[in-house]
Amino acid sequence: MKKLIIANWKMNPGSFREAVRITKEEDKSASTARNVEVVLTPPFVFLDSVNRLIEKAKLGAQDAFWERAGKSTGEISAVQLKSIGVKYVIVGHSERRALGDTNEIVRKKFKSVLSEGLCAVLCVGEKDRAKEVAFPPSVREELGSALKGISRKLLGKVVIAYEPVWAVGTGKPESPQNVFEMSTLIRRELFGMFGKKISSQIPVLYGGSVDEKNAADFVSHGRVDGLLVGGASLNTVKFASIIKKVNDI
Ligand code: PGA
Repeated sequence: MKKLIIANWKMNPGSFREAVRITKEEDKSASTARNVEVVLTPPFVFLDSVNRLIEKAKLGAQDAFWERAGKSTGEISAVQLKSIGVKYVIVGHSERRALGDTNEIVRKKFKSVLSEGLCAVLCVGEKDRAKEVAFPPSVREELGSALKGISRKLLGKVVIAYEPVWAVGTGKPESPQNVFEMSTLIRRELFGMFGKKISSQIPVLYGGSVDEKNAADFVSHGRVDGLLVGGASLNTVKFASIIKKVNDI
């Protein structure tokens, strides 16, 4: 399986011109990596332009509303995203959860993305570092709530991103050893829900202060199938280095 590296630009950059520059650079980096699939998830306003510029990278979005169309001012549906070439959609990012996306909302978004045939990247992660238990109940709940009732044939489009909230955007990443433990526990949970054959095909990524220095360790020692990169994905030199290092593992 190719490693998956998703660039989450969040609400950046501040101009169209800069978005074009970053896209061109990052697509070039993507084209040199045979063992890595690179996904760029720009803000909605840049999606169509980014899509026209990319040759190798895939297009992703940072969120999607659950209704297909209608009276939902300011929202964007998975149907619309699909129609302009989006292939991946992040759902349940901790920054969206902090703005009010509950497990119930995340479940509806997740389902709508999958039902359009797009890949849904479900973010899960505990809020606090202090863990009394090996597998935080909140992570189990986030997984269970989104995945419950998902038909097996849609599981091929599911990606799980383990993103401990305290590590996102803080410059304080989790250790590769703990990422290994958590990704193993997540895989075990998926195994319990869907059986070994299907669950072993669901990629589990890590995200949270990934940079060019620690990226390779998360993949080689943390044993994840890829990375969700925020801050460092806006720096084209750092992002190129992350892609190269993971490609060379
Ligand atoms: P970060 O963000 O790499 O800046 O910590 C990760 C994310 O938001 O997915």
